[in-house]
Amino acid sequence: MEKLLDTLIENNKVYTKNGKVASYIPELAKAKSEALGICITTLDGEEYCSGECDEKFTIQSISKVITLMLAILDNGKENVFKKVGMEPTADAFNSIINLETKSPQRPLNPMINSGAIATVSLIAGGDGDKIFERILKFTRKITGNPDININEDVYKSEKNTGHRNRALAYFMKSTGVIEGEVEEVLDVYFKQCAIEGTCKDIARVGAVLANNGVLPWNGERVVPAYVARIVKTIMVTCGMYDASGDTAVKIGIPCKSGVGGGILAAVPMRMGIGVFGPALDIKGNSIAGVKILEELSKELDLSIF
Ligand code: DON
Repeated sequence: MEKLLDTLIENNKVYTKNGKVASYIPELAKAKSEALGICITTLDGEEYCSGECDEKFTIQSISKVITLMLAILDNGKENVFKKVGMEPTADAFNSIINLETKSPQRPLNPMINSGAIATVSLIAGGDGDKIFERILKFTRKITGNPDININEDVYKSEKNTGHRNRALAYFMKSTGVIEGEVEEVLDVYFKQCAIEGTCKDIARVGAVLANNGVLPWNGERVVPAYVARIVKTIMVTCGMYDASGDTAVKIGIPCKSGVGGGILAAVPMRMGIGVFGPALDIKGNSIAGVKILEELSKELDLSIF
């Protein structure tokens, strides 16, 4: 397996040249655009890695998978999907247009920014700091990594410049989707996006989802199977934004990307995969990461379809 992963890194490294690191969050512009790493965690606890798999990056939108699990645990699926839809979008991840034009007026799904901000507003636990503590604690549990933390510089960078997200959140406050204090909700959202991890960490989250909500390394159930199933389904239809259809056809695995360059993938009953390649395509997905997953899926026959 390690040999296969080395070959995949070698074959796909060239694609990093075709993408650009995110710069709308100024701190992310410092990423090494040529980096590429992959890690696989199987359900029987084996771990295989290649490339820059120990490089830390902020998980950004991959955190939306984590907060969706917590929001469903806290509220039940009916209450979550009253506030946030479950339909894919053909627009960019930070688009605002559907918030006004669609009826009922709610974000299309929990994977786009508007939907993720609405989702985190539903998480229980008290004030923003306490809610974020819960998110962090849960992230540490499902990565099996007690050292997970946030990158303060990236957090501050997005908090200072995240005006599009502010616009989305205030719009949702005006339509009643967000009930709490907008700046407090946004602060938690900016922090969840700045959680830092490696390919290994996100591969383990993928393995938990692949294992229907049970930590493969100790058999502990962290979410009911129906929660893992909903999250994986929404990853297939919405996880790669307006490239989700393309991903389903070419890769065929539930995936969630982040503008930090990570992609989390969960192959049901087989493995979790974490990929890191900060050079992004125009839709905000890791350009070489998508290519490497495509080749891996073909090699190991991983498509669920
Ligand atoms: O809210 C944002 O714009 C970022 N913190 C996260 C966006 C993101 O990761 C989109 N993914 N590809």
